[in-house]
Amino acid sequence: MRSLLFVPGDSARKLEKGLASGADALIIDIEDSVALSAKEEARRVTAEFLASVRETRDRPRLYVRVNGLATGMTDADLDGVMRAVPDGIVLPKAIGGKDVAHLGAKIAVREAEFDLADGGTRIIAIATENARGVFALGTFAGASQRLDGLAWGGEDLSADIGAETNRRNDGHYTEPYRLARSLTLFGAAAAEVDAIDAVYTNFRDLDGLAAECREARRDGFVAKMAIHPAQVPVINETFVPSQEALERAKAVIAAFATNPGAGVVGVDGEMLDRPHLTRAERLLARAGDKS
Ligand code: COA
Ligand code: MG
Repeated sequence: MRSLLFVPGDSARKLEKGLASGADALIIDIEDSVALSAKEEARRVTAEFLASVRETRDRPRLYVRVNGLATGMTDADLDGVMRAVPDGIVLPKAIGGKDVAHLGAKIAVREAEFDLADGGTRIIAIATENARGVFALGTFAGASQRLDGLAWGGEDLSADIGAETNRRNDGHYTEPYRLARSLTLFGAAAAEVDAIDAVYTNFRDLDGLAAECREARRDGFVAKMAIHPAQVPVINETFVPSQEALERAKAVIAAFATNPGAGVVGVDGEMLDRPHLTRAERLLARAGDKS
């Protein structure tokens, strides 16, 4: 998965648009983009949409973002949508692995109740939306077999810590968000799940988005969330490994294959050891799995 497009769960029109956007996944939202008074309507519209497109071929993966565990609304959200069999649930405002395990247990109950495959529903956690979440980033390893990815977000975090802004005048994130972003990379690697980059909220600025995508890929993120269909092609393009990177990865794997048992080899005048091999293998695996 390269691109994950947020679509407000109470908008049948946007859900249809999202389907045609080219996104690898939709995150159908019944949290922050849905007013409190519209939650029930959003659950209904979301379930109807899921049920109507589930069997479609070549559709994006379908995740539902429920309301966070502290809101008291998560159970009603799951009751509303699980019957329609989403591919996964996105957990906002997650505080570490224990929240993921907690959500996993709630999901398991519905899988049993609605006769769904046990463990089939995946989880992506948005892990830096408050300060406690940032401190818990090292706790996701082993939390749940369902966990596919860790995403970070800078919007709710700025509200939690009382910041005036989260970006500098030149558009780059300020230091607290750089830290949360880096810790998400480490947390995802430690838990052996995908690191997913935050949304770029200025959806008319596609050059700024492209620059942020390139930096994210450089640093180890494998996907980025989007809020507008126009962002999807930019993200998809960036998160496909370049031809040059693929050739290089193949050369690294070939060098180790011709020197079995070697801990270190030379390729084009550069020393390469085992971590380079691991990285090359991961890159090729990702290139083979663009969905
Ligand atoms: N998913 C699907 N379709 C979308 C979309 C999205 N996220 N964002 C916009 N569209 C559609 C619009 O409905 C519009 O189609 P239409 O003219 O046929 O109705 C078209 O794309 C162009 O939209 P545009 O006019 O450029 O933007 P807008 O002012 O309608 O919408 C937002 C702007 C920010 C309200 C909208 O992009 C949005 O709802 N984004 C998702 C918000 C969200 O889920 N946030 C939570 C996560 S941070
Ligand atoms: Mg939010």
